[in-house]
Amino acid sequence: MRILSGIQPTGDKHLGNYFGAIRRWAEQQHGADCFHPIVDLHAITIPKEPGELRESTLSLAALLVACGLDPAVATVFVQSHVPEHPRLAWVLECMTPYGDLRRMPQYREKSAKEHGFGVALLTYPVLQAADILLYRADAVPVGEDQRQHLELARDIAQRFNNRFGDVFTVPAGTYPEIGAKLMDLQDPTSRMSTSADSDAGVLRLLDPPDVIRRKLRSAVTDSGREIVRSPDKPGVTNLIEILAATLGEAPEAIETRYEGQGYGTFKADVAEAVVGLLEPIQRRYGDLRADSDELHRILTVGAEKAHAVAAATLARAHEAVGFVAP
Ligand code: TYM
Repeated sequence: MRILSGIQPTGDKHLGNYFGAIRRWAEQQHGADCFHPIVDLHAITIPKEPGELRESTLSLAALLVACGLDPAVATVFVQSHVPEHPRLAWVLECMTPYGDLRRMPQYREKSAKEHGFGVALLTYPVLQAADILLYRADAVPVGEDQRQHLELARDIAQRFNNRFGDVFTVPAGTYPEIGAKLMDLQDPTSRMSTSADSDAGVLRLLDPPDVIRRKLRSAVTDSGREIVRSPDKPGVTNLIEILAATLGEAPEAIETRYEGQGYGTFKADVAEAVVGLLEPIQRRYGDLRADSDELHRILTVGAEKAHAVAAATLARAHEAVGFVAP
């Protein structure tokens, strides 16, 4: 069983990233061969300040390890260190219909916000398909927002295999039962996102305890008093999901426990649970981030392991399309 899933080195990562992706990577690492690129090539599709990009790449490496990824078991690496990614993306771009990319919801959202964006914002999901297909991954653990990108990666793999023979594994996206789509605390009809306009609705993994408490205290709740999940109570529904995911309990159990209780106590309990979850992560992060040599070592080893797998698949793909071997 091979797993691949990547993450962008942008902004401070949040609880949605943790429940949708990172925590599951840490849980799965002992039962599968896991590859986790920090996708800096994807990150520059939206302009980045170079110093900030460098800093976020290293701090994300530290954060992944702090969240429980063991670099001796799972392969954590920087995407730009493995040149096979853009090389395979080119080949796949040549056979991906323009219309498929133009329809991608994330492209439509981001292109509406950005002015004068580069063409890579459009081809972004093809690079993501290359990330996955290079490792012949069986499973791709992601949050709900990546579903269309995963469908596209499957289409690209199938189309390539039908035309050129069996080169790629057709990957399956996997989604958590709870926490596949955490919502913004201030606008619970929008996904919790690194690029949210306001920080107040985003629970960052490195937010100090008092910030977490403040954000949860001011989280939007809905009219009525009941602590139950319902489509007309998106705020409370989201908080129930957050508490359930944090404690590893069923949302139904949370609803039962808080029957007849007020929002105040409930929100305070959510805050304490999240603070308790993040406290050890933040402590480990502090130690790891201080040791840049160790981070570089982890990423060098990761890139070597990734490169060995990626180079073999790229060679097969190049041969399949008819390139003369160098
Ligand atoms: P990124 O960096 O935006 O997000 C990383 C992971 O976090 C998940 N996620 C969420 N899960 C639950 N609730 C949320 N509110 C939430 N927000 C984000 C995402 O689904 C993702 O799993 N394009 C990808 C990175 C990528 C990738 C790949 C992923 C590049 N190549 C190959 C998988 C396989 C992205 O921007 O993720």
